[in-house]
Amino acid sequence: MFDLIIKNASLTDGQTGIDIACRNGKIAALERDITADAKEIIDAAGYLVSPPFVDPHFHMDATLSLGTPRMNVSGTLLEGIALWGELKEVQSIEDIVQRALQYCELAVAKGIGAIRSHVDTCDDKLTGVQALLEVREQVKDCLELQLVAFPQDGVLCDPTAMQNTIRALDMGVDVVGGIPHFERTMADGAESVRLLCEIAAERGLMVDMHCDESDDPLSRHIETLVFETQRLGLQGRVTGSHLTSMHSMDNYYVSKLIPLIAEAQVHAVPNPLINIMLQGRHDTYPKRRGQTRVREMRDAGIIVGFGSDCMMDPWYSLGKADMLDVAFMGLHVGQLSSRADMAWCFDAVTLNSARIMGLDGYGVAKGCEANFVLLQAHETIEALRLRAHRIAVVRKGCVVSRSDPQIFRTTMNAVGKDLDEATVKN
Ligand code: FE2
Repeated sequence: MFDLIIKNASLTDGQTGIDIACRNGKIAALERDITADAKEIIDAAGYLVSPPFVDPHFHMDATLSLGTPRMNVSGTLLEGIALWGELKEVQSIEDIVQRALQYCELAVAKGIGAIRSHVDTCDDKLTGVQALLEVREQVKDCLELQLVAFPQDGVLCDPTAMQNTIRALDMGVDVVGGIPHFERTMADGAESVRLLCEIAAERGLMVDMHCDESDDPLSRHIETLVFETQRLGLQGRVTGSHLTSMHSMDNYYVSKLIPLIAEAQVHAVPNPLINIMLQGRHDTYPKRRGQTRVREMRDAGIIVGFGSDCMMDPWYSLGKADMLDVAFMGLHVGQLSSRADMAWCFDAVTLNSARIMGLDGYGVAKGCEANFVLLQAHETIEALRLRAHRIAVVRKGCVVSRSDPQIFRTTMNAVGKDLDEATVKN
């Protein structure tokens, strides 16, 4: 007797007609024609069962705050940071908890199983840290929330940021963050990377830095991050987020840089939705796209995962917790249009991001955690094309969100005559 069996599923590797049986929170069997009984049986009808979506870069302390205390008029990163400073003055722990829980509920319904969220540590009260530690505990049965201590105003620029970042880590924040391109000088940026990586090494923690989120081709803190990763033996535990300056860098320099990133096993997290919106704001025409060099890093063996970064906050007023939207945008901006490239974009919001976060038991395979999402699509490229509807979301073998397959009704009027209403699935 199983807890749950999904019948006739397609898998992301192309297998079809697969039954998935779950017991005690794990995938106990994965094969054709499982005839055993279960407390619940769901007919997947040939639709795709994917491991959960993973968002490796988000800001949960800011989400759903759009318009408080005002809107970002210029649409720039710098006005967003200034606006965030105003919001921090007026928001309470309860405000952040309430908004974050609302976001988590949406994220779970959209099939997200894990989120790495940065939390601002430039606040002597550590309001966001207190709030998100509480949220991490409250959502743990439905969602893995990993927190990054993020000194938004610069760990050297802000006079109390270093001690507050260390306090946040002492309180249980998981990962060490930073923002070297926001420090006052290039030298301070490099120093911030050194200091923060040393803290991570001493504590055995991962690192995830906002790195070179700029159109300045000379913003090269990723080089220092790679150097410190090697010096301190942090290989495989460090991520550079955004890395947008690489879009504008000299090709010769990049030909040296990318192999160094690969050698240090530093991961990369571009955030396509926000960076296609923010970058190139100082350009006339042609305007730079600002997305980092995804294809080239992937081809060099660097693990690249797409993050969402923001939803309805001082930086980005749109979004719906949909990692297929994120991958769809990354695909277009990166011109990743071959069949293999598009399939890889699906991996960038699932498998790759799970590796970046260091998730255990991730995947749709026997022995893995029974966490997955049933999508109304037959394979990964179709899922991307449609930003497929989530029919069911399963966590530890229990259905935590479900909705009926969507049916699209279309009334078509051709030239000079009416056509009958057509009902089209998908
Ligand atoms: Fe970010």
